[in-house]
This record gives sequence, C-alpha cells and structure tokens, in this order.
Amino acid sequence: MQGKLIIIEGGDGSGKATQTKLLQEHLQKDGKPVQAVSFPNYDSDSSALVRMYLRGDFGTDADAVNPYAASAFYAVDRFASYQMYWKSFLQNGGVVLADRYTTSNMLYQMIKFNDSAERSAYLDWLEDFEFGKMGLPRPDLVCLLDVPLDVTERLMAGRQGKTGGATGDIHEKNESFLHKCHDAYDELTDRYGWKRIACTEDGRMRSIEDIHADLYRAVTAVLIP
Ligand SMILES: Nc1ncnc2c1ncn2[C@@H]1O[C@H](COP(=O)(O)OP(=O)(O)OP(=O)(O)O)[C@@H](O)[C@H]1O
Ligand SMILES: [Mg+2]
Repeated sequence: MQGKLIIIEGGDGSGKATQTKLLQEHLQKDGKPVQAVSFPNYDSDSSALVRMYLRGDFGTDADAVNPYAASAFYAVDRFASYQMYWKSFLQNGGVVLADRYTTSNMLYQMIKFNDSAERSAYLDWLEDFEFGKMGLPRPDLVCLLDVPLDVTERLMAGRQGKTGGATGDIHEKNESFLHKCHDAYDELTDRYGWKRIACTEDGRMRSIEDIHADLYRAVTAVLIP
C-alpha cells in the first residue's frame, strides 16, 4: 500500500523546519509511521552541485544560470534521498514529510522566466522530468506556509545565508527576488491547488502552535484513517 507524501513549502524563514518537526512528533504520537526529510540535503554528496550553484560557482547572478540545468541539480539530490532513504518506507504505507521538494524548483527556477508561455513550458518539463522520467513520487498534499511579503522582509533582515556567504546565497541576496517569489506562490497555488496555511495575523507571525494546529488539520485530512 502506497503511503502519503506531504510537502511543507514556503519562503526562507517561514517555519518549514519548525513545522515539519512538530508535525512529525504529533503524527508519531498518533501512532502513524512517519519520516521527515528536507531538501536540499546539504549533508549529502548528492547536493554538491546545488551547493556549487548556491555559492555562485556557475555565476553569481542566479538569473544567469540555466533554470533547466539548475533544476537538474536539485532533482538529482532528491533522487538520491528517495532511493536511499524513503522509497520503500513510502511504498510500504509510511507518511513522508518533506521540507521543500520539486515544489521549490517550481518556484525558484520558474521565476527566471518572465514570459507565461515559457513558464508553463518549464513547469510541464519539470513535472515530466522529476515525476515522469526520474520516477520521483508526486506529492499527495503541498502545504504552503503563507507569510506575506512585508513580514518576510522583516524576517529576512539581518539573516545570514546557509551556504557560506555573509549576505546569503545567490537566491537570498537578490532583493527583488522576494517580490517575484511571492507572486509566483500565488501562481503556483492556483495551478497546483496547494493548501495555504496562514502564518500571520494582523501583520504578525501567529504562534508556532496555532500554525501547527491548522497544518495538522490539513494533513490528517489526506491521511488514510
Ligand atoms: N510562528 C513563528 N513565530 C515566530 N518565530 C518562528 C515561527 N516559526 C518559526 N520561527 C522561528 O523562525 C526561524 C526560522 O524557522 P525555520 O528554520 O523553521 O524556518 P525555515 O522555513 O525552515 O527556514 P529556512 O529558510 O532557514 O530553511 C527559527 O528561528 C524559528 O524558531
Ligand atoms: Mg529550513
């Protein structure tokens, strides 16, 4: 019996790791078989090209790096993780929680195209490449941790990048990038039916527990009873 693949998607600092961990603990308490993974898998050799890309080895302007090539770097990292750590678990009925997934390629690489026909062609290609040709499983549910742009900008202020740069990696350090990302979240949510989880109220972050309660409700709705 195939299990369920649940994606926790969202911008930098939106609480993906925090919510993934809480959700894992809660589902474990419920007695569900659950495993959590996160992407990129920075600890693995499989993310070598992702790390090179993010620190600017192929060009310090993310826009200048071919989105199809960049997508392949991330997809390969996911393939390695799937094959080695969670393929059989999922196929045997487990619940896999992923902090980022193909959905992050959809976002960060799609926004390199301004033309909507090119965007659509890219998304079609990506779905076929990752889910069709590479055989990665399609998500059963994508939950978007929804943090409005102004709150994201406050969260990002003063933040250090994860891949070594003092001012963030080649994605994080481009300011107009955040605006593009937020527009793209709307576009992708419409296209794929992602489930938005409101993370703010009156311009402030909601409590971790309140966000968790909404996320838990959305996730348990798709789990087999
Ligand atoms: N609802 C919340 N309110 C306030 N702070 C929060 C909330 N959720 C998470 N945080 C804090 O925000 C920071 C970022 O959270 P977390 O690492 O879970 O986000 P992320 O989406 O995984 O970020 P990253 O972009 O680094 O991968 C952490 O210090 C975390 O404790
Ligand atoms: Mg994280």
